[in-house]
Amino acid sequence: MKRIAVMTAGGDAPGMNAAVRSIVRTGIYNGLEVWGIEKAYLGMIEGLMKPLSLKDVGGIMQKGGTVLQTTRCEEFITDEGQMLAVENLEKNEIDGVAVIGGDGSLTGALDLHNRGIKVIGVPATIDNDLWGTDMSIGVDTALNTIIYCVDNIKDTASSHERAFIIEVMGRKSGYLALMAAIATGAEEVYVPEREMNLEATAARIQEGHRRGKTHGIIILAEGAGNAYTIGRQLKNFLGYDVRISILGHIQRGGSPSAFDRQLGSMMGAEAVRALTDGKSGLMVALSGASYSLIPIQEAVENKKNILEKQYEIAQILAL
Ligand code: F6P
Repeated sequence: MKRIAVMTAGGDAPGMNAAVRSIVRTGIYNGLEVWGIEKAYLGMIEGLMKPLSLKDVGGIMQKGGTVLQTTRCEEFITDEGQMLAVENLEKNEIDGVAVIGGDGSLTGALDLHNRGIKVIGVPATIDNDLWGTDMSIGVDTALNTIIYCVDNIKDTASSHERAFIIEVMGRKSGYLALMAAIATGAEEVYVPEREMNLEATAARIQEGHRRGKTHGIIILAEGAGNAYTIGRQLKNFLGYDVRISILGHIQRGGSPSAFDRQLGSMMGAEAVRALTDGKSGLMVALSGASYSLIPIQEAVENKKNILEKQYEIAQILAL
């Protein structure tokens, strides 16, 4: 292995830059040439790739987003797109690729692996929905951003004695919503993995009011339902207005937390080690305090379950 490439794909996640920096620097340290592929699979298809130096990745770790940029590329799903991507990698004599991204991006990595390219995946998605790793890059920073926003909303909610539905990201996964609910002391959390009971929520908020609570905060994962529809229905049970706040892409930006910087750095180094060992089709995973490699296929095919214990505790603490 002489030349490897790194790219970031799918939705950006804070800490991706730490992983890029780590792959470039540990790669060069191990005697490799490291190239950066811009704009993810689109860049692979269009040949947007170039060598990166130690200096090129200086001063990027504290930046949110990804300096390599990213896309969601429909063309790569086609046979033709994948063949073009492989052709470009071979033309540039790239012996292995580290793909930093979420489930869609790693499904693409698996396609490359199946076409004979050596690929190692690095999990990065604020959703934390990749099976087999306790944490993905970006989750911790996104959660910190969410709790900052929820705390602020709580101030105004308390001042006006209002109920709020705060929508957070997570189309298929309630992880961010659940963890944010625990970390902010929300009165309710709605996740795609569980049925919601609006009547019970209203009863809980009303009971809280009777005990002197001055707010009712509901954290809604975007995949659990439409915030405005739920707000209207809840108003009927509660008897007063429910304000809606959709946090949106603010959750994906911002300078990465200490945890995401070190996670990106460690996972990047593990990816380079796997590539230099000649491995492929594997994803770096964090389990407890240890890093391991698991088949990408398992990471993308299995579904990460909601954390039962945390869900139960969120309900108890919301009383
Ligand atoms: O996968 C990460 C994520 O932020 C999801 O939580 C969200 O549903 C989606 O990406 C939004 O994607 P886009 O930025 O392409 O609209």
